[in-house]
Amino acid sequence: RVCGLGAEVNVDYVAVLVLDLRGEEIFYQRTPLDVPRLGVEKTLDELAAAIAGAVGAAGASGHDVAGVTVGIPGMVETAPGVLRHAPNVGWREVRVADELATRLGGPDVAIRVDNDANLSALAEYAMGASAGTPDLVYVTGETGVGGGVIADGVLLRGTEGYGGEIGHLPIGDPAHPCGCGKLGCWETSVGLAALLREVADPGDPVTDPSVDLEVRLAEIRRRAELGDGRTLRGLEAVGTSLGLGAAILVNLFNPRVIMLGGYFAVLGEFFLPAMETELDKRVVAPARGGCRIELSALGFTAACRGGAHVALEAVLTDPASV
Ligand code: BGC
Ligand code: NA
Ligand code: ZN
Repeated sequence: RVCGLGAEVNVDYVAVLVLDLRGEEIFYQRTPLDVPRLGVEKTLDELAAAIAGAVGAAGASGHDVAGVTVGIPGMVETAPGVLRHAPNVGWREVRVADELATRLGGPDVAIRVDNDANLSALAEYAMGASAGTPDLVYVTGETGVGGGVIADGVLLRGTEGYGGEIGHLPIGDPAHPCGCGKLGCWETSVGLAALLREVADPGDPVTDPSVDLEVRLAEIRRRAELGDGRTLRGLEAVGTSLGLGAAILVNLFNPRVIMLGGYFAVLGEFFLPAMETELDKRVVAPARGGCRIELSALGFTAACRGGAHVALEAVLTDPASV
């Protein structure tokens, strides 16, 4: 029985997920790692080990992995499987597909590489709450801010494949340097570091990177629910900036759905009022009503899910490709 394997390198973990032909999850594993500190070689070692483990687990349940698709938090040239630049992990020019094939002991299985948010958008389009919506923009809040634009049912890639890099829209405060080397990118106002700066002081446990992100987000949510002023003002500030970027996306793409993922989904209800206000102010009037903002239900597994889906789709549409 055929299955697809999706993998993801994030700033603070690597993850693998296996889907069977019906789209049911049959294996998932997340390994927390300090990827920027660990560096390219060791992270790829860990990722290859996680992939091999997932292939083994799939095999033990009678499944054969037909393909592997890896999401990376940066700009990827998909045909050769080369990462050009991943700002928040500090990687440049990494031949991800080749490096993994070597570590996995040969090109037994097709390895594809893509941008993390592109894969998440494809997962939403294939199996999310608004699956099948032909005009859908996925926006994820992580250390970086990523985007995947589905327009007329097709993922927008651009000339070289770097389309949808919405985290680097120059709409943030130019006082804040971005991981990409420029100033004032959108992710400097709505990425994870910005959220933490807005809701907490240095030393506050929610800013402690050694504590699991989901635990920290739950604490921020708890404070917001208790009506803590600092927290609510911070969430509102992020929500306003989120709305500004979303307004640009709505004016550009006239999407039916803006799907918020990553931490934006976890704290979404606290961003929505400020976002809606900002959208009302800035979106060209006829486009406003047709677009709704949704919170992703795929959580932090979206990129992996999209990867597994792409791997399966490839074998179904072109069995010779594996
Ligand atoms: C990167 C994107 C990525 C996003 C989310 C941004 O900094 O430039 O490629 O999708 O972070 O990980
Ligand atoms: Na993208
Ligand atoms: Zn940037």
